[in-house]
Amino acid sequence: MEKITDYLCRYKDYNFAIDFTTPEHIDSLQSFEIRDSDIFLVTYPKSGTIWTQQIIISICELGGGLNEYPNNLEHMPWLEYTEGREDYSLRPSPRLFASHLTPALLPPGLKDKKAKIIYVMRNPKDNIVSYYHFSSACGDLETPKSFELFLEQYLTGNVGASSWFDHIRKWLSSRDQYNILYLTYEDMILDLKGAVTKICRFLGKNLSEAAIDQVVEKSTFKSMKKDLKANYEFLPKEKVSGNFMRKGQIGDWKNIFTPAQSERVDRLLQEKLGDLSLKFIWE
Ligand code: A3P
Repeated sequence: MEKITDYLCRYKDYNFAIDFTTPEHIDSLQSFEIRDSDIFLVTYPKSGTIWTQQIIISICELGGGLNEYPNNLEHMPWLEYTEGREDYSLRPSPRLFASHLTPALLPPGLKDKKAKIIYVMRNPKDNIVSYYHFSSACGDLETPKSFELFLEQYLTGNVGASSWFDHIRKWLSSRDQYNILYLTYEDMILDLKGAVTKICRFLGKNLSEAAIDQVVEKSTFKSMKKDLKANYEFLPKEKVSGNFMRKGQIGDWKNIFTPAQSERVDRLLQEKLGDLSLKFIWE
């Protein structure tokens, strides 16, 4: 692993936070055995991961038959990180995993198209702002000197998980290779019940209307903020100062972006992903 800053290292064309993983572990994922019942949640950081995690876990719990875990992180661990890792081959099915990895780094067994992947993306301007605030609060990430400098790092892919543009392109162009459901953060904000229903259908969970309402209620920003299993305040304070649940809105970018910065993102979006005709909701 090549150290690129005091906080980031690079392996196989992807930036990891320092000390979060090892080359051996990332390599070992190439022979990680996938079960048909596995459920993966994949995102670029700050796209609504812990939110979707709460939805999937709540659906599976109400759908019956899951073990109890102390919190959502232990229930749905990040496959790529080494801290807290256990022998996942001993876990009962269905196993739930989260990941920020790109397709090539994930276990090839996912291409059997039996295990399920849910991929959530968020409009890049809100994603940048969320990542900026998170980097300021998280002891494992470099504290940005200014928004301008962070924007530069983000747009050139010099942040954890590398380039947002690459992540989106790689995952959207892998549609045919996986059993995958694409969701956007904005659609989830605008119609949480619709998103929960879609996820239920994709996971093959036939929940009653009342159970779906229960999942929605557990997954609102307000409920999650005080849910000790879901709000990530269980992480040590020196690592993340309680900032996973920050604002939870569409359009916060307008409070920080200058018009020139916004136009720059629009231009890059057109240049790099224009051919995909993505329609993001910005406010
Ligand atoms: P903000 O920083 O814009 O508030 P991730 O889980 O991928 O790190 O993403 C974190 C972002 O998701 C944060 O965005 C956080 O507030 C938002 N989020 C988490 N739970 C949410 C919920 N229930 N509803 C809406 N947004 C939520």
